[in-house]
Amino acid sequence: MGSKNHIIWGVTTAAAQTEGAFDKDGKGPSIWDTFTKNSRKIKDKSNNQIATNFYERFAEDIDVCVDIGLKIFRFSISWSRIIPDGTGAINEKGIAFYNKVIDYCLKVGIEPWITTYHWDLPQKLQDKGGWRNREVIADYENYVRVLKDHFSDRVKNWILVNEAIVCIGAGYFLGIHAPGKRGIKNFSASIHHILLAQAKGFYILKTDNNLLVGTAVSCTKIEAYTDQKRDQKAALRIDALMNRLCIEPYIGLGYPKNELPLVTNIEKFIQEGDMEIMKVDFDFWGIQTYAREVVKSAWYIPYLGCVLVSPKKRKVPVSVMGWETYSEGAEFFLERFSKYDPEKPLWLSECGIALSDEEDDSKRIAYYKKIIKGMENVIAKKINLKGILLWTLVDNFEWAEGYIPKFGIVGMDKTTLNRKMKKTAIWLKEYFSNQFD
Ligand code: BGC
Repeated sequence: MGSKNHIIWGVTTAAAQTEGAFDKDGKGPSIWDTFTKNSRKIKDKSNNQIATNFYERFAEDIDVCVDIGLKIFRFSISWSRIIPDGTGAINEKGIAFYNKVIDYCLKVGIEPWITTYHWDLPQKLQDKGGWRNREVIADYENYVRVLKDHFSDRVKNWILVNEAIVCIGAGYFLGIHAPGKRGIKNFSASIHHILLAQAKGFYILKTDNNLLVGTAVSCTKIEAYTDQKRDQKAALRIDALMNRLCIEPYIGLGYPKNELPLVTNIEKFIQEGDMEIMKVDFDFWGIQTYAREVVKSAWYIPYLGCVLVSPKKRKVPVSVMGWETYSEGAEFFLERFSKYDPEKPLWLSECGIALSDEEDDSKRIAYYKKIIKGMENVIAKKINLKGILLWTLVDNFEWAEGYIPKFGIVGMDKTTLNRKMKKTAIWLKEYFSNQFD
């Protein structure tokens, strides 16, 4: 049985956004546990201590995937649930939890995919500088080894780091995500270390040739506000930062220094041999895209030399995330990545739309219809697209935005935590049943 267009559909979730059970069964604190203690940092003053309680309700969520007709369940592992201090002793109860999730997926016919790192660094490692400190690379390698030893007998597809640019940009440059650090030095060191760690994680997992190992990269469509040369240059600069910096070193192209002068700051942290190690041939690219941003040159902004032009000023609809939802980005970036290497398998490993409580879910259906149209174009262009993992299953903790934006195709009552399929889930179920013959 296969889909008529051979596209495989699944969902993506993340530990810190769903699991809850923040201090249960031996889990150590992560930087998000610390960050959310200061409620001023989160828009609705919430935290993720309970989240969707995936820790106890995982079977129910995986059952919903089966009911809808989804085939892949991608989830991330909480590093501090497995190794509470980030390094050292393993928490057997943490291993047991993920074993249960994996075994349940397999039992009901869903393929489990693991993301090794979706932004929740163990606090104990942050106390030593976190991604700013080069020593974290060895800790990450050790952690990946533990994951491989315990889970690779049943999990074939692995994503190493989820969206390095967002994690480090928001957490170590802008300070709006955990651990709340700011500034160019924090950013430059941390981005190089996380990208190098990811390369080393790749080699560890690939000691088992049966595994398929990739990365998930954030892609934001960047356009210039005007035709003026300085705005055009600003757009190229931000495109290099958002859509190339964390990709091109792996392809052997190095950091995009020509378009992005701040690469000189990163170079201070590169040691001999690093760029060679970073030339890894991922088994696939996971492309994740949500929004379009338009930029305008602004000489007074350090390092970036530009500002974003708000959707309001551009007179386009703005989502509850404050960005312009841009479904067309999926087709655009799949095409761009296929130019790097036409043979390389590509996944749309996240896409989705944030709605507020006031908005009707039919807007989400309209969004996914556009995504499907884009994917049909991609297939017609013979791009090697394998599948789509939508963001996300159940409404969850949306980082600094708290629980206000709703990305789920399944809703959740905030008091009872009971789930209910939204119109989109019902529509997708219908769509999938027509797709399979
Ligand atoms: C992240 C998710 C996040 C989503 C919506 C992606 O960049 O991987 O964790 O919830 O965007 O903001």
